[in-house]
Amino acid sequence: MSLRLGDLAPNFEADTTQGRINFYDWLGDSWAMLFSHPADFTPVCTTELGKTALLKGDFAKRNVKVIAVSVDDLESHNRWVPDINEVNNVEMNFPIIADSDRNVATLYDMIHPNASEKTTVRSVFVIGPDKKIKLTLTYPASTGRNFLELLRVIDSLQLTANYQVATPADWQDGDDVIVVPAVSTADAEVKFPKGLNIVKPYLRYTPQPNK
Ligand code: BEZ
Repeated sequence: MSLRLGDLAPNFEADTTQGRINFYDWLGDSWAMLFSHPADFTPVCTTELGKTALLKGDFAKRNVKVIAVSVDDLESHNRWVPDINEVNNVEMNFPIIADSDRNVATLYDMIHPNASEKTTVRSVFVIGPDKKIKLTLTYPASTGRNFLELLRVIDSLQLTANYQVATPADWQDGDDVIVVPAVSTADAEVKFPKGLNIVKPYLRYTPQPNK
């Protein structure tokens, strides 16, 4: 069965371009973004891994480690990395898992046989420090992901993990947020001293509490 939000992210051991890892040990107390790509030496994947390398500092600022996976072997990953560096004018700075035995792909249900029997789809798992799955996302091979959107989602996940708020459509870090329905307006006035904008009894905005 596929993994769902709130499930424990499965642990595994794997060879990567930065050495052998035990996933939980590698994760430590950080958040993680584990993402699969269909295959090495493919155009969209080359742009995705380069973009992630360019944004590594932005993920690190949020205490998020990034790690990629495909069912190619380590020798293939190592031959591909110079292309990623050259095309994106970057130095690869995060591990790519060599999953030729499909262990990780199977644990995380990253092969969708009706899309492709042989390769992983573009899955993303954001995992919290409690090792639980906070976000899943699946794109087809033909569509590259938006890594700025993933940073935006992580901002929301981390904010809403700490405050009783939710983020509205198209929210960006710094915008007003929504008080969750479980908090009464009387309690919200105490919890959110920056003030409430009550648009409907169930739609109450407040300035972002951690800014
Ligand atoms: C790509 O990464 O460019 C790609 C991979 C598999 C199918 C289509 C595109």
